[in-house]
Amino acid sequence: MTIYAVVNSKGGVGKTTIAVHLATLVAQTSRTLLIDGDPQGSAASWAAWRRDYLPDAPSPTTTCLHEKAILNEGRPLAKGFDHAVVDAGGRDTAGLRSALLLAQRAIIPVGASQLDAAALTDILTLVDMARDYNPDLKVRVLLNRIDPRTRDTTDMVSFLTEQKLAALKTMIIERVAYRRSVGDGSTVGEYGKDKAASAEMQSLFEEVSDSWQ
Ligand SMILES: Nc1ncnc2c1ncn2[C@@H]1O[C@H](COP(=O)(O)OP(=O)(O)OP(=O)(O)O)[C@@H](O)[C@H]1O
Ligand SMILES: [Mg+2]
Repeated sequence: MTIYAVVNSKGGVGKTTIAVHLATLVAQTSRTLLIDGDPQGSAASWAAWRRDYLPDAPSPTTTCLHEKAILNEGRPLAKGFDHAVVDAGGRDTAGLRSALLLAQRAIIPVGASQLDAAALTDILTLVDMARDYNPDLKVRVLLNRIDPRTRDTTDMVSFLTEQKLAALKTMIIERVAYRRSVGDGSTVGEYGKDKAASAEMQSLFEEVSDSWQ
């Protein structure tokens, strides 16, 4: 049983996109709980579209929990599942902290920009605090919405290496397929129109399912 939390105190970095993809891929082979921990309810909207458009597809069970309930209710709820994925809200500090206390593995999506690099300090401070109570919490940075041809991407990779931050090898490129598929309640794999997107998301799933040192 592994609980993943997709976290960043910065908004719009792709937390919901990554959380719904990861939860759906995990749900193909095991009972999976997707906790929408963001009061905006974006993951819950995706789940509602999915029930309308893809009623028979293997899906995570989705529930909305906010603030401390992410930990207090999330822990007993997750016991009924093989895996759980939390989409933690951006600015919701109590919820974000609860997600970091509940999870064994935190994925931090970041873009490739100075602003993303600067904002990493805030989330890493919260991770450090969470480790006082959740010492086994493992963390990986995920580059998302990148353009691999630009210097911004190489600069961000160098920055993460200099800061000794563990980054996932898989990087997610800025692709229209992510916006379209999530809007249809599906994943890029199910959407099927962008093979490169399906392949990179499959690679992300395999990498995060593997052991984390
Ligand atoms: N790899 C990608 N390629 C293209 N668009 C993307 C990608 N990842 C995310 N997006 C788009 O970027 C926007 C923000 O993504 P998302 O909602 O997943 O981020 P978030 O971190 O959950 O945001 P919030 O802080 O508002 O909860 C959305 O419009 C989404 O479709
Ligand atoms: Mg979101």
